[in-house]
Amino acid sequence: MTVRTAILISGSGSNMETLVRSMTGDHPARPVLVLCNRPDVAGIERAAGLGVPVHVVDHRRFADKAAFEAALDARLRDYQTDLVCLAGFMRILSAGFVEKWPHRILNIHPSLLPKFRGLDTHARALAAGETEHGCTVHEVTPALDDGPILGQARLAVDPDETPEALAHRVLELEHRLYPAVLRRVAAGDRSPLQLD
Ligand code: GRF
Repeated sequence: MTVRTAILISGSGSNMETLVRSMTGDHPARPVLVLCNRPDVAGIERAAGLGVPVHVVDHRRFADKAAFEAALDARLRDYQTDLVCLAGFMRILSAGFVEKWPHRILNIHPSLLPKFRGLDTHARALAAGETEHGCTVHEVTPALDDGPILGQARLAVDPDETPEALAHRVLELEHRLYPAVLRRVAAGDRSPLQLD
């Protein structure tokens, strides 16, 4: 049974691309849909270039969050989605939405959760003098950047590096971690993966 996977993006879509490219051969999942909440970002062309159906569901064109999320939900169901991967998706999904997709929404966050939930994680990790940093794939629950951890990848922080340099190195880790975790989850294995 193929795990029909949708990917939600808001920007460049580099994580989306690595996920789409990973779902081949004997991988139990296949990409069926990309949704983007912004009309003017590179991830849209990236998805189209990969041959994945992509739709813009622009959050600014809806009267409220409930209407926006209803539109997301309708698209996901139109494509018979089994699993949802948030990949650089910058909208916070309500408890009501998340509860309609129990244990079926994954997210990648650029920190070693539970440290540094929220934004600007790299600058905060440097400011805190962290000796290591990295990224986390977790199940999405109603609480922000919370939920069961499915995988983490870590690296040693250079105290002299800029947040931008650290972000770039973490993004490279994300591109390794997310496909590895997706494959395990699609195969029914939700045990946490540690990539070092
Ligand atoms: C990156 O900063 C990444 O850390 C986070 O979302 C941002 C955009 O990633 N997950 P992408 O290139 O759109 O996947």
